[in-house]
Amino acid sequence: MKTFVLLCSLLASTATIGQSRIHLIPQPVSVQEKQGSFTPGPKTSIRYDPAFREAALYLGEVLSIPVARILPGQTAGAQTILLSKQKSADSAAYILSIRPSLIKATASHPAGILYAVQSIAQLYLTSRDNQLPCAEITDKPRFGYRGLMLDVSRHFAPPEYVKKTIDLLSLYKMNRLHLHLTDGAGWRIQMDKYPKLTSKAAWRTHRNWKDWWKSDRSFSLENNPEAHGGYFTKAQARELVTYAARRGITIIPEIEMPGHSDEVLEAYPHLKCPNVTHKTGEFCIGNDSTFTFMQDVLTEIMEIFPSTYLHIGGDEAGKGNWKKCPKCQQRIRDQKLKDEDELQSYAIRRIEQFISSKGRKLLGWDEILEGGLAPGSTVMSWRGERGGIEAARMGHDVIMTPGSHCYFDHYQQDPATQPEAIGGYLPLQKVYSYEPIPAELEKEKQHHVLGAQANVWTEYIPTTEHLDYMIFPRIIALSETVWSDPSKKNWDDFLSRLYYHYRLLQKKNVNYCRPADKVDIKPAFDSTLLTATVQLNTEQYQPEIRYTLDGTNPVSSSTLYTGPFIINKTVQVRTAIFRNGKAVQKADTLLLDFHKALGKSVTYNRKWVSYPAQKERTLVNGYKGSLTYQDGQWQGFTSDLDVVIDLGKTEALRDVSCTFMQITGPGVYMPDFVEVFVSDDGKTFTSAGKALNDVPTDENRLRFKSFRVQPVNTSARYIHFYAKNHTGFLFADEIVVY
Ligand code: ACM
Ligand code: ZN
Repeated sequence: MKTFVLLCSLLASTATIGQSRIHLIPQPVSVQEKQGSFTPGPKTSIRYDPAFREAALYLGEVLSIPVARILPGQTAGAQTILLSKQKSADSAAYILSIRPSLIKATASHPAGILYAVQSIAQLYLTSRDNQLPCAEITDKPRFGYRGLMLDVSRHFAPPEYVKKTIDLLSLYKMNRLHLHLTDGAGWRIQMDKYPKLTSKAAWRTHRNWKDWWKSDRSFSLENNPEAHGGYFTKAQARELVTYAARRGITIIPEIEMPGHSDEVLEAYPHLKCPNVTHKTGEFCIGNDSTFTFMQDVLTEIMEIFPSTYLHIGGDEAGKGNWKKCPKCQQRIRDQKLKDEDELQSYAIRRIEQFISSKGRKLLGWDEILEGGLAPGSTVMSWRGERGGIEAARMGHDVIMTPGSHCYFDHYQQDPATQPEAIGGYLPLQKVYSYEPIPAELEKEKQHHVLGAQANVWTEYIPTTEHLDYMIFPRIIALSETVWSDPSKKNWDDFLSRLYYHYRLLQKKNVNYCRPADKVDIKPAFDSTLLTATVQLNTEQYQPEIRYTLDGTNPVSSSTLYTGPFIINKTVQVRTAIFRNGKAVQKADTLLLDFHKALGKSVTYNRKWVSYPAQKERTLVNGYKGSLTYQDGQWQGFTSDLDVVIDLGKTEALRDVSCTFMQITGPGVYMPDFVEVFVSDDGKTFTSAGKALNDVPTDENRLRFKSFRVQPVNTSARYIHFYAKNHTGFLFADEIVVY
């Protein structure tokens, strides 16, 4: 939170919040606010260029202007909204001029005029008085691909909900809706050639994915009284395509292959590897019927969905069956493939040839890089940005959707306060902070990054109300990331505008996640580690934050936070947001440890694996980890944690501790135990104590535990810290020594 905002908040606590009347999200290229307003009313009419009829009718709906007053033409009377055509290099660009008696929107193309209209709609829906503030606005998007993926397989979302989502995406100038139509938990689109995909594979024995997953994962039959599920008929899907197009949104269908296809193989078991009798999600690549199936399905899909891109999944295919399957192995020999990675790549290339022969383009998750990327394919980078960077360097287009910033199935606030989610932690500010062009990507390759997309996987999202909750307001933060120039982005300013959009979301009956009353305490230790500058952040707009440094809970007379403050000794920072003189919830706390190991040298007997965090500095840099192991402060090990700290001189030791995290979904467990050994010469160590784990390994809620050893009458220069890995991942943030 920047100081100037807080000063304003003090001065303006009784005045109207915010001076500007313009609260557009995403932030346009330029906005000049003017005096006065345009007030839509009984005399207001819309005149449009014939190319812009659709947008004109939509604007009429938003402003309640009767169709009789929405006419083609360019003659403006009093109280006219004019939609005019004018050449522009960018079909999505628009200019919007709002004056007291005339609104003029110009663009070269229906896309641009729709964005102008959505800006008018936002101004209207976020205003207190249904007036449109006068302004001169020019605007165009930064990226051409601005997407949301909806997983309708794990839990089906009916067409009405998809339409509501389309309306909202359009309002925020997003332009792609990727529908994950098929997955192991259900097939969701009518296919004439393969009727069992919807008579069987679209219907489960359990409504809730989690219950079904824990059961024997059986399918039911359409019309069985106890069947749960659903699918889009072709007519419904076509209607969605048309509806979305009118809102400037292209629907991209995803048909998963060659993995994540359990439901297909339940309906058509002849497409499994012949030696596989158990349930499986992988097609047999050695069987030509697999390709017949895929081509038949994609042919029907292309008849429904006109999008250039067809998404074919490609992620997380288990390759074990293929290793043992005579047909797959025969295919490997016939095609002179090296291994099962190349077998997957063979399948994707074959599908890519088919898709491109029909004038379409293949889009797939980043696993399609493994074994060689098919020419002409576009990569969706989800396992971080590596796949995207690699593909862009090879000259392929990419869409960024890294789990770290774009997975809206992750928790958005403290998991203890939230409905169960799959794991992870992706608060609003982190979404907002996302920059789709990786810093390391060479300038001449950057144009391959077409944009970014949020993914909402629905394993733990059984209802559409819950979907709303996971999508909003995070998608609004992403909309600014993909539309606005980075120089226009500012978190505090975004929060001030978002404040007005909560009103809009209420009007639209969206069950959005309310801004958290949590205060994030962010220390920045300086390079000599002798001081830390502490900054307090929240999702609230202009909050009254008070804090203490003496371990007591803040009260209404505690120090008011007005900007970052500096500390130079171990303290417990306790802070809370106050409204009407009362703390709105339990205080947030962070212990800032100026402990004996801070900044000292650490030798790793075993290295971290894929979560280096701050490398050798991580465990002694003063920073505690937050709620997510992806925050760059949690170091991840798939082995035991086994390090030696050199304190530089012999010190008296009375307390050595380290916090670990458990979140069983992604396989993160507490250590079985921690043992601390000490030495004066760094060669001969003796045990100073052991701390055992008491967190059950089947506890699947996010848990933290500090393992503590308290040596008695002990002095030493070297500390050997050992934590026994239970299984999977071990995550540690800081070894604190006193
Ligand atoms: C994915 O999350 N498996 C693409
Ligand atoms: Zn096979």
